[in-house]
Amino acid sequence: MSASEPVLEVSGLTKHFDVPRSRGGGVVHAVDGVDITVGQGEIVGLVGESGSGKSTVARCIVRLLEPTAGRIRLHGKDISHVSRRGMRSLRRQVHMVFQDPYSSLDPRTPVGDIVAEPLRMHGIARGRDVGRRVGEMLERVGLSADMRRRYPHELSGGRRQRVGLARSLVLGPSLLVADEPVSALDVSVRASIINLVLDLQRDMGFSCLFVAHDLSTVEFLCNRVYVTYLGHIVEVGSRDRLFDAPRHPYTQSLLSAVALPDPRLQRERRRVVLPGDVPSPIEPPSGCRFHTRCPVAEFPLCREQVPELVEHTGDRHRAACHLVGTDGRAPDVSGGADPLVHHQT
Ligand SMILES: Nc1ncnc2c1ncn2[C@@H]1O[C@H](COP(=O)(O)OP(=O)(O)OP(=O)(O)O)[C@@H](O)[C@H]1O
Ligand SMILES: [Mg+2]
Repeated sequence: MSASEPVLEVSGLTKHFDVPRSRGGGVVHAVDGVDITVGQGEIVGLVGESGSGKSTVARCIVRLLEPTAGRIRLHGKDISHVSRRGMRSLRRQVHMVFQDPYSSLDPRTPVGDIVAEPLRMHGIARGRDVGRRVGEMLERVGLSADMRRRYPHELSGGRRQRVGLARSLVLGPSLLVADEPVSALDVSVRASIINLVLDLQRDMGFSCLFVAHDLSTVEFLCNRVYVTYLGHIVEVGSRDRLFDAPRHPYTQSLLSAVALPDPRLQRERRRVVLPGDVPSPIEPPSGCRFHTRCPVAEFPLCREQVPELVEHTGDRHRAACHLVGTDGRAPDVSGGADPLVHHQT
């Protein structure tokens, strides 16, 4: 393993679900040809509206779902169709933490056993050593040793998510896949869990793919960000490039909805409100999947041609939009008299 080798390389990842005839039939195009790379020690964000395929990507990576097509490499090794036996060793390297700390922890198992389970399953520690490592891990996530005898239902949401993190990290994985780990929590405890993820990452050095709706969390936490829409990646760039100069009209509209800390800037900012919801992934729109909601789409180009993810300026900032200039200039979605664009003054 070389120092520059990515921890995770996802290429052309595709996941389709067949809908049973009793429910109308058809195929859900949940994820279509997604490429994602996570470097060593990087925290990479994956953002997009509900139904854009974020959880499906995360579940394919940890192999809770079998991909329909594409390749997933972990430290250069192809794990796309790894066998049940292969999965065992994989679990030591990649772990997932879920959105809902209520349903993802077994209510009948005390916290100490929940955190010990991966150690026992992989035969990594025995006897007293298990207790010692569980105690250390609980301490790392900010829980006291007496928590190990408590049951998940006795704990607050924030503490349960700390237990979820302890279980996911006790084997020292090189990759943590976190699927909206704070969105089910009270706003008041979200920041403490986000700070904890950041501290743990600095301390333990794992790489992380962090799935989120909430752009301010991603801005705080992530080094690089992928924006997804209806199963496609529409933009990817470093946090600074993406937040300071978004290129794709979809990213621009997502960012325009984020509250700014400066009230003056907030008053001046123009908000782009997209019409309608994300279309059905059973019959996704042709061409650019965003064209049915895009305030600046040009026809027939955007309806007919699928835009490629293009790096316009040689800085690894890439966008999939026909209307981004060859110099990386973004189309202006907040100007003009388009009725779909609502100006907030
Ligand atoms: N097992 C399944 N069978 C059929 N369709 C599915 C299945 N799992 C997900 N889907 C569909 O695939 C699409 C993507 O779902 P996914 O859960 O990955 O989205 P998401 O971006 O994680 O959304 P959210 O932000 O709401 O969690 C959705 O239309 C969803 O209904
Ligand atoms: Mg999800």
